[in-house]
Amino acid sequence: MQKEAILDLLNEMTIEEKIGQLVQLSGVFYLDDSEITGPLASYELTNENKYSVGSIIGVTTAENALKIQTEYLEQSRLRIPLLFMADIIHGVNTIYPVPIAMACSFNPKLIKEMATFSGVEAANTGVHVTFSPMADLARDARWGRNMETNGEDPYLNKILAENYVKGYQGSSLSPNSNLISCVKHFAGYGLVESGREYNYVDVSERVLHEFHYPAYQEAIKAGARMVMSSFNTINSIPVTVNQKIIKGDLRSNLNFKGVVISDWSAITEAIHHKLATDSKDCARLACEATIDIDMMSMAYQDNLVELVKSGEICEQQINQMVLRILHLKNDYGLFENPFKNLKGVKKHAVKSPDIIENTKKVAAESAILLKNNDSVLPLKTKFAIYGKFTETTDYFGPWSWQGDLKIVKSIKAVFSNNNDVIHVPYQGMNFDLQDFDSVETVVLFIGENAHESGEAKSKTNINLSKEEEEIIKTLKSSGKKVIAVIFSGRPLAITNVVQYLDAIIYAWFLGTSTAIVLHDIITGKINPSAKLAMSLPRTVGQCPIYYNNYATGRPKAAAIDSYVSKYIDCSNQPLYSFGHGLTYSNMKIKKVEITKSTYNLGEDIELRVWIQNPSEYAGMEVIQVYVNDLVASVIRPNKELKAFEKVYLNAGETKAFIINISAKELGYINENLEFSTDLGEFKIMVGLNSEELLINKIKVGD
Ligand code: GLC
Repeated sequence: MQKEAILDLLNEMTIEEKIGQLVQLSGVFYLDDSEITGPLASYELTNENKYSVGSIIGVTTAENALKIQTEYLEQSRLRIPLLFMADIIHGVNTIYPVPIAMACSFNPKLIKEMATFSGVEAANTGVHVTFSPMADLARDARWGRNMETNGEDPYLNKILAENYVKGYQGSSLSPNSNLISCVKHFAGYGLVESGREYNYVDVSERVLHEFHYPAYQEAIKAGARMVMSSFNTINSIPVTVNQKIIKGDLRSNLNFKGVVISDWSAITEAIHHKLATDSKDCARLACEATIDIDMMSMAYQDNLVELVKSGEICEQQINQMVLRILHLKNDYGLFENPFKNLKGVKKHAVKSPDIIENTKKVAAESAILLKNNDSVLPLKTKFAIYGKFTETTDYFGPWSWQGDLKIVKSIKAVFSNNNDVIHVPYQGMNFDLQDFDSVETVVLFIGENAHESGEAKSKTNINLSKEEEEIIKTLKSSGKKVIAVIFSGRPLAITNVVQYLDAIIYAWFLGTSTAIVLHDIITGKINPSAKLAMSLPRTVGQCPIYYNNYATGRPKAAAIDSYVSKYIDCSNQPLYSFGHGLTYSNMKIKKVEITKSTYNLGEDIELRVWIQNPSEYAGMEVIQVYVNDLVASVIRPNKELKAFEKVYLNAGETKAFIINISAKELGYINENLEFSTDLGEFKIMVGLNSEELLINKIKVGD
């Protein structure tokens, strides 16, 4: 529809029809075979309610989407099509590794590819909008939703968030886009106090702007047309009713012109936060904050017409909200083609061989080799496999949209094709050591079950189970080489067992291709290349912990001193830090050349990094460039990732790679919330992780 015609459509709409566009309901209310249970059963919906809403959440098949859209349009006076929305966060039917695992690939191109394929599957199952990427920064392993994030670093987060959006929507939203990206949760959700889900958040405005907003900003610049508000508070006001954060920071500072949707029932949660007395109050507050769509709280459905008629909310405000939604539907081509791909559903596009192959490619770059003593991996001799994850196919993690388990092979099934492998049936600690007599090496597949992470799954104990710690120690003390493949949706504290393990692969949850990828890594067909996107703490007592921390006024120097920033019972350092990950190539940085030592703000700092691959394994490495501003107007992290590049080297190859950083990019958000770059000295640190770094000093000056 021509943009001008949108205004004509708005002018034809009654106030009831306008309010309907601001309401989102679950698809379960539209399907006869749905079993409506739990909180949903309390909703009392009339047919008028159902057939006036603007969008539906959670429809899972093309057939159901087609049925609902058809019936809706038959009953819609103005035939404004529904938008169908869902949480496609790492695939639809063919499941990719959980987002935190994919972030460990440090491969933006791969993320964009994944999002493109996910968009194809989504479009063929009737979904128009995905609530992804989750751009929340994650630094506390106790929080369950780390698995949905891009980890602890703001630079990596923003680069990946941008590529998610470009993969879903293409270069910009158009009728050819498969999916509309709704970036979430704006903002600061990962800062929940004590890592406890939905808890209080306290954060300075400056830290929000410097560490938390950049990823949303990049997603918006990449064209994301929706943003979801977060459950948490900022400045002691729930974000969903917080004018300063939504109307101020998101819409005017970050220049977001699109549609803001609340999280599930978040609008009426203002009552529980004690910011509102009833749903009418909630509706007014959320509307004034410019939340356009009310996801499942019914506050808008039940109160906005009255609020407009009483003059408490002006109709012009409603018109602006409705126009944002109508333009979104129009730009996505929904008026011309309400059924998008549904009529000619391309069956081949779902669970197709090329998508399955792509999940394997992404999984291969998402599992991290944390430890490999004496290059025990890859295994070339007979070995045993044991553990609860060998006999299941539950490798999707806690939230995989419609992951099809029928196309997943178990680790037992895949490894059993290898004559060098014996599978010992899992019996917890009740195994007989004799079962392992014929091998020197045991590979354990252990860790957190999928339901132990995800939304509302915060934990205070992030160790492996006692039983699995015992299994490791028992096998090691029997003289075996013990290798652990650890599944998890969060960083676990594996300190109790790390010295008993000859090698460790951190697998997170790798999705559909888990078994074949782990087999190929363990046997050397795949050379691992992933790096931690989130540090592994030594103990939960260190949480939140992250690599880009501060010197403090009493830095813990090498010399022993009691009055410094430290613990008396634990190191300050994580067990494995952000950026850590081994390969079979054991590549080294031979040297770093820097063209000069002084730069003005308009110049690029050019680094020439020589990498040597001394091994017989071709493979990839991630060159990481960190900076430290030696004197600034606000405290600066000891190191900040400012560039990274994933590079490939053949066996035995030595090669130079050029990395450029704009001198301006060494800046930060100052105390006046302005981006500024100090003139002065900086450390430029280059490494293949965030701890072993070659350091150069440069000066930025006129
Ligand atoms: C959930 C999550 C959000 C999700 C929404 C819809 O509560 O917080 O990430 O997109 O509801 O499922």
